[in-house]
Amino acid sequence: MGAVPSRVEPSRLVVLVSGSGTNLQALIDAAADPDYGARVAAVGSDRHGIEGLERAERHGIDTFVLPTADFDGRDAWDAALASEVAAHRPDLVVLAGFMKLAGPAFLARFGGRTVNTHPALLPAFPGMHGPRDALAHGVKVTGATLFVVDAGVDTGPIVAQVAVPVLPGDDERTLHDRIRTSERSMLVEWVGRMAREPYTITDRTITFGAAV
Ligand code: GAR
Repeated sequence: MGAVPSRVEPSRLVVLVSGSGTNLQALIDAAADPDYGARVAAVGSDRHGIEGLERAERHGIDTFVLPTADFDGRDAWDAALASEVAAHRPDLVVLAGFMKLAGPAFLARFGGRTVNTHPALLPAFPGMHGPRDALAHGVKVTGATLFVVDAGVDTGPIVAQVAVPVLPGDDERTLHDRIRTSERSMLVEWVGRMAREPYTITDRTITFGAAV
């Protein structure tokens, strides 16, 4: 009998969400292909009753919810988040519409292997309302950014960006929907690369490939 070829285990992703979870869904769908090299091990949220959690449950993925109001201050919440995420042994943590800032306890454990996707071309329009702020400024091109989370607000090293046009008549919803479509492809492509390939982060630059 021949030897059974060994298969490298897919990287474990923990995905954190606060809303509809269309980016999470794109990762779940991509991970159905064994060649993708990653699978969603767990989904966490700061809110009960959101569609993102329902998507995870429909796919039999473990979920957890840690509302900030259940904790005695932000540091206690941050420490609990770090512990809960750690329990799922992630190789990479993906913030996909997670509307809370990672704090010091979380970054001490997962800094350098946590990415966030943001609906604007950073450093323009950081924060909670990227599409709204881009429209208000009158830009003609905006987009989405995948970056490595650091202690700032949307300030970490940039992994990838995708440009999206602002069209006449756009409102926040139509623009954000157009951004989300491109954002999902970008997220799937680059999370897959981070799962499958070695990378190093030097200052603000992420380089793929084995260190020489
Ligand atoms: C995404 O567009 C993501 O970039 C944004 O929330 C949306 C979540 O959509 N995140 C932020 O604005 C973070 N500052 P989804 O729940 O359908 O994936």
